[in-house]
Amino acid sequence: MNKQALIIDCDPGVDDAVALMLAFGAGAFDLLAITAVGGNVPVQKTARNARMLRQIAGREDVPVFMGADRPLRREPAGAGEFHGAEGLGDLTPFEPETPCAEGHAVDALIDLVMARPERSVAMAVLGPMTNLALALRREPGLAERLGPVAVMGGARSEGGNITASAEFNIWADPDAAAEVLASGCDVVLFGLDATHQVRATEDRIAAVEAIGTAMADTAASMMRFSQRIEREIVGWDAPPVHDPCPVAWLLQPALFELAPCRIRVETQSDLTRGHTAVEFRDAVAGGLPHRWATAADSDGVFALIAAAVGPGRTI
Ligand code: RIB
Ligand code: CA
Repeated sequence: MNKQALIIDCDPGVDDAVALMLAFGAGAFDLLAITAVGGNVPVQKTARNARMLRQIAGREDVPVFMGADRPLRREPAGAGEFHGAEGLGDLTPFEPETPCAEGHAVDALIDLVMARPERSVAMAVLGPMTNLALALRREPGLAERLGPVAVMGGARSEGGNITASAEFNIWADPDAAAEVLASGCDVVLFGLDATHQVRATEDRIAAVEAIGTAMADTAASMMRFSQRIEREIVGWDAPPVHDPCPVAWLLQPALFELAPCRIRVETQSDLTRGHTAVEFRDAVAGGLPHRWATAADSDGVFALIAAAVGPGRTI
């Protein structure tokens, strides 16, 4: 099998955890690294959480690098109310056996991508885009070297989730998002318009719980936590599971519908900070360098998750 080289940048985070279990269990990826960024919880915890999940999945072959502890300009702001104080919901933290890899995530990102053939390394960015923005500042050639950059972030028809105008990942570091989108990277943005179609219903959570592996139990625990919190805070019966979407697209692109566009980000206003202005009209945008996910096959996404966390490596 010709494996897709992949770097996952994330801020685990309960839905990041489901995305990581999907990636760890998918035989189709050559996972070069996990890079942690401050976001849902501080980077010390997101890096530890990535190491915990890696150990649960038995994937200590994948290095975890610690990255940026704060946005490019804005003050750090978490989302602990949706992920728990430690970032992994009801999962009790433990000190993983394997430490973080030596070196900063930004340097690792540059070194890993620039050492490989052009467009051969894809990225999934599941938190604020700070690490990638810093890497692009340090090595602008990264934009042409990288393959597709599948990002969870943004909102258009769905409105925001952290504010009325913005989705958390973009809101947390709008300057980083703006710099990445202006860099020439091949960005595919999976915003709330698509991720709100991918919901952890009771049946879907129960199906993962019935699998019985440690990876499945962990993924189900994350979704159970989200189910409880979203019911309490938002009043939704089934929580959206955002971060698996970019990973699922890299595995099976046909699960999503994408539209060519140009995406710009509000970085100045406090009221609309992090708003993603998604322009589909070429004549207005002067070119459509990005792609925006407009639809998701949620049954297909959950089928991938179930296969990845099951006993056999079937995807
Ligand atoms: O808005 C959803 C995004 O913000 C997800 O990546 C979730 O993990 C949080 O980081
Ligand atoms: Ca995340």
